[in-house]
Amino acid sequence: MNKLQDILNKKELQKEDIIFLLEQKGENQKQIFRKSQEIKEKYLGKVSYFRGLIEFSNVCYKNCLYCGIRAGNKNANRYTIGEKNILKAAQFAYDNNFGSIVLQSGEREDQEFIDFVDQLLQKIKKLSKGKLGITISLGEQKPEVYKRWFESGTHRYLLRIEASNEDLYYKIHPQNNKHNYQRRRNCLQSLQNIGYQTGTGGMVGLPFQTYEHLAEDLLFYRDFDIDMVGMGPYIEHKDTPLWKHRHLLMPLEKRFSLTLNMIAVLRIMMPDINIAAATALQAIDPVGRERALKIGANVIMPNITPTINRKDYLLYQNKPCTDEGADECVNCLEARISLAGDEIGYGQWGDSKHYYKRRNMEKIKEN
Ligand code: 5AD
Ligand code: SF4
Ligand code: FES
Repeated sequence: MNKLQDILNKKELQKEDIIFLLEQKGENQKQIFRKSQEIKEKYLGKVSYFRGLIEFSNVCYKNCLYCGIRAGNKNANRYTIGEKNILKAAQFAYDNNFGSIVLQSGEREDQEFIDFVDQLLQKIKKLSKGKLGITISLGEQKPEVYKRWFESGTHRYLLRIEASNEDLYYKIHPQNNKHNYQRRRNCLQSLQNIGYQTGTGGMVGLPFQTYEHLAEDLLFYRDFDIDMVGMGPYIEHKDTPLWKHRHLLMPLEKRFSLTLNMIAVLRIMMPDINIAAATALQAIDPVGRERALKIGANVIMPNITPTINRKDYLLYQNKPCTDEGADECVNCLEARISLAGDEIGYGQWGDSKHYYKRRNMEKIKEN
């Protein structure tokens, strides 16, 4: 048997195996994709879930070196959508039978923000009679804040580790008390303890990132027993400090192809988690997200942010769907998902199967 087959038949992949898989191209890469596709179908069926994404504010007090809406970018046009319009977007998701929404914004830890989100969660629960699932992605917060929001009706949280290797983490974040690697890990831990379905992820193709770092990311997700992962290619933005390192980057197509390998290998390693087809894939390839669904991802997030604000949530350049309206994105995605050969899990929360398995295991351990 050849090396690739040997590795694909292993029960548990080691770091060297993962690096080998990530390096594959051509026919070998196709073989990896066949395997990951098979695993997705076996464990999750041919179903993908919609999450209506509402990017309700690009105000952020952090300064991640890669991000276009970092506090230090004076060229960013800042906005915060009022409650009324956020509720309208949530209503749209509910009326269109999406099952779930994601509320995302830049990071803020002030009391006004915490209360605002809390109110919002309760109102969204109410308008949908408890039916709309709510995922939030609002950065690092104190455990008591996570707990309060959990009690107000949200049940999934996304907090990307960005880079699980500490050295790399500090190459893409400033070294100050606002950007602390250990705090980020602690936040993920407290989300898990509180009972959230916990999602993380990172960027692929960052400057200074090696195959070894990427393999460590996948092992981190497995060892942390994470429920959901979102990984997307890093895309440079000219108003950020990392821009000056762009000569170190792989070509965009390579970053894209490597992200697909990451998704496929993760699906092989963690058959029952939710994996999102990141929007950044579509910034490189017009059918990038569909290609991710085909080889292992099972969640896609149509943007339902009011169109006037979309072009200002510019994490990276060439971000797609900034001119389209919510309706257009939905129709477009529906067609896209069927192209990928999947059905849409309308009206369902599309929870991570892994979460329930993990919680049952914990109960068994407690007894
Ligand atoms: N390229 C790709 N993804 C980015 N993000 C932020 N900046 C970029 C970029 N330049 C991602 C981060 C963050 C998510 C909301 O967007 O991973 O967690
Ligand atoms: Fe803020 Fe998130 Fe951008 Fe960092 S990645 S600057 S926390 S919006
Ligand atoms: Fe936004 Fe197609 S998904 S226009």
